[in-house]
Amino acid sequence: MPTTDLGLEKTLAALAITEAAQVNARFAVLRAHFDGQFQTVHDESEWKLFRDRWLGRKSGVLTLITDNWLKPATPELKRAVGQELNKLRAHVESQIEARRVAIESGTEESALLRERIDLSLAGVIRPIGSHHLICQVFQEIEDIFFSIGFSVVEGPEIETPYYNFEALNIPEFHPVRDDMDTFYLELPPSSDKKTAPTPLLLRTHTSPMQIRTMEKHKPPVRVIVPGKVYRRDNPDATHSFAFHQIEGLAVDTDITFCDFTGTIEYFVKQFFGPSVKTRFRPSYFPFTEPSVEFDVSCPFCGGTGAAAGGGTCSKCKGAAWIELFGAGMVDPAVYGFVNYDAKKVSGFAFGIGIDRLAMLKYGIDDIQVFFQNDVRFLRQFP
Ligand code: PHE
Repeated sequence: MPTTDLGLEKTLAALAITEAAQVNARFAVLRAHFDGQFQTVHDESEWKLFRDRWLGRKSGVLTLITDNWLKPATPELKRAVGQELNKLRAHVESQIEARRVAIESGTEESALLRERIDLSLAGVIRPIGSHHLICQVFQEIEDIFFSIGFSVVEGPEIETPYYNFEALNIPEFHPVRDDMDTFYLELPPSSDKKTAPTPLLLRTHTSPMQIRTMEKHKPPVRVIVPGKVYRRDNPDATHSFAFHQIEGLAVDTDITFCDFTGTIEYFVKQFFGPSVKTRFRPSYFPFTEPSVEFDVSCPFCGGTGAAAGGGTCSKCKGAAWIELFGAGMVDPAVYGFVNYDAKKVSGFAFGIGIDRLAMLKYGIDDIQVFFQNDVRFLRQFP
């Protein structure tokens, strides 16, 4: 509030003040105004300005009060105004003098420094975030594979058909391409076939990283590849057009089918607990031969298919086994694409669907919750 708003230019009569109580109230306002402004006075130049505004001979606040309020006051009010003015003057003078001493001795400055961090203020509580459940499961699986000598690599989510399909032994017009309802990127059209850009697509699995890894490194290779993959699926409780996989690849001179099943069994027991059993069934992938589908004995009913309270287990639907993921021994044809000698090396690969695994382990019945970012869900997995 500038001092002009305080009515200092007017007489008390003009301000319609007729009683001592009103005078007291006016002075209370003035004093509060003084105290408020006084907070902002920290150095010598601010102090001088402030002193002149209040104590200046010609037009300081106290002079104005004397001239405009006290002198023209009615005899009934004069006494009250005089008393209040004296009190205010004493307050103003003593405060201003005290601040001068403080500024001169530098204590004001050090007090300011001290007060810059006000430890008595209530703090701002910022909620601490946590890793998304999918990240936690990635981490868990990575740790398991770290412990047996795998390392992590990551690759592009936008791929060429060569890496996503051809080099994985899936030629154009191979029927398995139909299963992978693929998202192709819209590229600028070209009239000339020769300059037409290479088509690009969102990778439908993490398997392209098998090829990229083997192109870069000579055997032995032992990697896992966590990442996002995309397929043109309609969203429902178990489908999403984006989901997560961890690819695994181990290639060396003497890797056997036993190494393969032993590794998978180790992983599954670490992840679900030591009492689960694994089994595999024949399957088909163009880039593995033989190919298998791994199952785990249902960790929820102990592989009995029966619910604890009677009836069938709701997780495995009474089957006692749960389908986990696809895998197999690397098809020798794939080695041809990366200049490995198929006669000398062998290996295995697997592709674990993370969302499905997380749903199983943590009892989640709708894959969509992973993508909705509802904090009520996220908070349950701190
Ligand atoms: N890429 C396959 C899929 O997404 C899974 C897989 C990976 C199978 C590695 C065998 C070996 O379905």
